[in-house]
Amino acid sequence: MTHSFRLIEQIQFLNQQRLQNVKGAHEDMLAAILELKYEVQRPWDTLWENRFQMFCSFGKRMAIEMGLVQAITDRGGAPVSSKDLGAGTRFDQGLIERLLRLLASMRLIDMTGKNEFKATEVTTLLNSKGSTAYDKIFFDWLCPVGANIVRCINATGLPQFPESGQQGPFEYAFGVPFYEHIAQRPGLKQDFDLAMSAKRDGLVPQWFHVYPVMEELETGVIVDVAGNKGYELVSLAAEHPEFEGTLILEDLPSTFAQMNEEEQSKIKDAGIRLQEYDFFTPQPIKGANIYFIRDVLHDWPDKEAVQLLSQTAEAMEPGRSRLLIEDHVVDDENIHPTAAAKDILMLLTLNGIERTLEQWKVLLEDSGLMIVKVWPDGPDHPSIIEAVKT
Ligand SMILES: C[S@@+](CC[C@H](N)C(=O)[O-])C[C@H]1O[C@@H](n2cnc3c(N)ncnc32)[C@H](O)[C@@H]1O
Repeated sequence: MTHSFRLIEQIQFLNQQRLQNVKGAHEDMLAAILELKYEVQRPWDTLWENRFQMFCSFGKRMAIEMGLVQAITDRGGAPVSSKDLGAGTRFDQGLIERLLRLLASMRLIDMTGKNEFKATEVTTLLNSKGSTAYDKIFFDWLCPVGANIVRCINATGLPQFPESGQQGPFEYAFGVPFYEHIAQRPGLKQDFDLAMSAKRDGLVPQWFHVYPVMEELETGVIVDVAGNKGYELVSLAAEHPEFEGTLILEDLPSTFAQMNEEEQSKIKDAGIRLQEYDFFTPQPIKGANIYFIRDVLHDWPDKEAVQLLSQTAEAMEPGRSRLLIEDHVVDDENIHPTAAAKDILMLLTLNGIERTLEQWKVLLEDSGLMIVKVWPDGPDHPSIIEAVKT
């Protein structure tokens, strides 16, 4: 039997499992479909598909900026002609049609007839505030980094982890590191925080489901290190009103200063304590039960990541404190395309890196910590790395 026939059989089997809600079947089926696609594609198909992806992203960003995604979502799933969608805008009818056809080809909207379209669940998600914030950040701030990358490679030699005095790709394009850049731009900082809060929308399960925090903790102290505006602790408190311990949110003063009234009242209602903290300085909360840190270590080269982790390790109490890191554990033999792309996103934005298990082990060892267990959650999702002080 050829490989493609085997894959088709496998997909049929996984589809049955998926319909019975077998855990992991959905992800395995998507991986098998991708494998089948690459098996069937000729070299030419693979390369051209890849090459044109960039223009799909350009077109999507144009449609968002021109208000087309908002306009079609506002119709609530009812079919609408491109003419109606374009009425009242300052854009050419023909241009609108071209963009809507592109969105339909990517299944971001449905085409219901010639020049007639409707919004789907994907469109609604695409139009959400968090998703729009992501599209703006990726396109408006990271496209210029990509556009300068060839000059950056030739000028700097692109060291994986730039030393002081050396520039990484973001600094090369914008003159300052990413976090400094966004601190000077309130609109961008707002989009960044919005994007961070929307990461789990429709996708990644809560960390306290992947690692069963509440099964072993009725009280105690949980600290979210660099937890941005506290949405992770707010979700925990909402789902576990019986928790009698203390929830502490740490981040930079500039992040707390940007909390709007709604965010502030969520924090207050959840009984969360705010602690301003620069994570390169000593951790002020000593001996907490849980130190949780999500999507932060991949922002930093090894040297800074060790400095940061050592501060938390120093504050941890053996036998009581646990560190839970939510980040990708990269499969270095069969990497998921999203994890691989995210790794390059980290490189371009922050001189950061998505790490393999071996790399995590070394990083934690160098910080006075050791891995107890990795709680996996699917190849395209981050895992929870549970660690204790050595
Ligand atoms: C990629 S975001 C992750 C936020 C949050 N943990 C999440 O998963 O959505 C990184 C966070 O680190 C914070 N941060 C950056 N530099 C920091 C520093 N030196 N000390 C403390 N927090 C910092 C940012 O404000 C931001 O909230």
